Amino acid sequence: MTKNVAENVDEQPWTVAFDKRSTEAFEAAMAVVPVSASATESTDILVFTNKGPVPAPRSRALEIHEIPGIVNLYHEAALKAKIAGFDGVEVLAAGGYLLDQFLQNGTYLRTDAYGGSVENRARLLLEVVEAVTEIFSRDRVGVRLSPSGIFNGISDSNPEVIFDYVAGALNRFRLAYLHVIEPRVKGGETLREGHPPVAAARLRKIFNGPMIVAGGFDREGAMEVLDKGDADLVAFGRQFIANPDLVERFRLGLPLNRYDRSTFYSPGPKGYIDYATHTDLANPSL
Ligand SMILES: Cc1cc2nc3c(=O)[nH]c(=O)nc-3n(C[C@H](O)[C@H](O)[C@H](O)COP(=O)(O)O)c2cc1C
Repeated sequence: MTKNVAENVDEQPWTVAFDKRSTEAFEAAMAVVPVSASATESTDILVFTNKGPVPAPRSRALEIHEIPGIVNLYHEAALKAKIAGFDGVEVLAAGGYLLDQFLQNGTYLRTDAYGGSVENRARLLLEVVEAVTEIFSRDRVGVRLSPSGIFNGISDSNPEVIFDYVAGALNRFRLAYLHVIEPRVKGGETLREGHPPVAAARLRKIFNGPMIVAGGFDREGAMEVLDKGDADLVAFGRQFIANPDLVERFRLGLPLNRYDRSTFYSPGPKGYIDYATHTDLANPSL
């Protein structure tokens, strides 16, 4: 779930594919063969279970007749989000999850109507966006991409070609925004410290609507990318987890709490609700 600057709440439907984050029912989770674009496996994919992280099992390729059912799952998820009162949805086609697996050719070995050409590889994402925009109006739907992303064992031999195509193909929907994760991060880890943002700057020239950028930003980096006009909004992950009053701290130029990586995916409240606000720090007895 992401919270946008207008304090509206977006749900982020994402198909877990071969990354199963079951903290319960470990055996049941491991007994289900995860689906993917192709039958692949990677030592980079961990399943978070109540017994700790374990390597994900090998996935199986979705049969072509199963694909309408997948599209329908997104349609249903959007409907449930709407009934639950969400303001909009962000379709997660990033991070090595199912839609990203169809886009990027490192996990992509198909030869059917969902394989080969960039048009075919983007087909599932575009069908999902079409289905979701039947539930929410287009200005309440965003798409998240991670061009050149390698999180969850994914890769592409020529990422510019597929992601340029996808950014252009999404124009016809007139979506609320395109949300781009910079390749200098891999999930919640910075891969290339000090590396400038590149993905939003590139896709900005292709995608006609509002652009959100994420990945490795601090206050100064965010101001810079906005000033350059490469994005309209900057999203923060780790700093938001550790600073419940992040916006206020940025506004006042205050130092930030450091995040504790060991609690990022841990069960229980620690690391979720116990980071201090700057007011707590100023009044420790409160
Ligand atoms: C604990 C944790 C959970 C995350 N969960 C999601 C998620 O569910 N969906 C998503 O798109 N990104 C998720 N991310 C990635 C963040 O949205 C963001 O892209 C990443 O942390 C890089 O931004 P940052 O440098 O500001 O942290 C998660 C990151 C962390 C650290």
